[in-house]
Amino acid sequence: MKINLSVKIGKIKLKNPVMTASGTFGYAEEFNDFINLKRLGAIVTKTVTLKPHIGNLPARTCETPSGMLNSIGLENPGLEVFLKSKLPFLKKLNIPVIMSIASIGSPEEFIELAKRLNKVSAVDALELNISCPNIIGEKTLISQECEATYKTVSSVRKATNKTLITKLSPNVTCISDIAKAAQSAGSDAIALINTLSGMSIDIEKRAPKLKAVTGGLSGPAIRPVALKMVWEAYNNIKIPIIGMGGIMDTPSALEFLIAGATAISIGTANFINPKATIEIIDGLSEYLKRKKIKSAEELTGSLSHEK
Ligand code: FUM
Repeated sequence: MKINLSVKIGKIKLKNPVMTASGTFGYAEEFNDFINLKRLGAIVTKTVTLKPHIGNLPARTCETPSGMLNSIGLENPGLEVFLKSKLPFLKKLNIPVIMSIASIGSPEEFIELAKRLNKVSAVDALELNISCPNIIGEKTLISQECEATYKTVSSVRKATNKTLITKLSPNVTCISDIAKAAQSAGSDAIALINTLSGMSIDIEKRAPKLKAVTGGLSGPAIRPVALKMVWEAYNNIKIPIIGMGGIMDTPSALEFLIAGATAISIGTANFINPKATIEIIDGLSEYLKRKKIKSAEELTGSLSHEK
């Protein structure tokens, strides 16, 4: 039986629904010795800002039960270095490149980034990171307010013709309201969830384990929360959802597709098993064959439950 794993997100076609989650895969070259990168559905880069950014002071990561906390603080080399020294490698892979972008300080930075990248053909789509919980001094994230989400997404929408994906925070009261705001503002897709805010304490020192005190929780610990948010968003919006949050293997990837995701991103799993993405691509194919389902698209939102 011939299986069709391909999916569409905005204008881009992915040969399978498996992508990397921003910040867990560097700029892909770091994983070149471990997997055949050309097999991935798409690559999402570590978030890039207009200017280089040093990020937060260490310690910036720590392990937690079934998860990890990070407070990297958007460390990245900035747009110019990304274009010169990271993008050429990504371009050669011939798979969709989704560039995660963020602004530090002024939201105008998003517009400037989007305008400049609109002319860069090697970038296929932009992922608008309005949900990083690790910017010191920022009390409210853009994606924690419908109005701010709408305003930011619509101004970026005017600045780019590229496929626009908006990455949302789970640290909100009603995820579907925020997802609807991004949809009305012209986002082509939603990525959710970013990390959940959390903290961890070293009881001997009676000090926080992270220098920034708080960070973002990821890994299997957050999977049920992520899954519920994907399901809620799926029932309230029409644009595709890229689901993520603790996907470690094929069964957990399938949960997200069944809940309503069109594609999925693998994050924390990459740190434990650098081959996780490829194993999941193969696992999805096997599942579809075993269930006699012809395409990955048929799985999206196929949850069966009594209302
Ligand atoms: O701290 C960080 O760089 C994390 C970014 C994010 O969660 O989007």
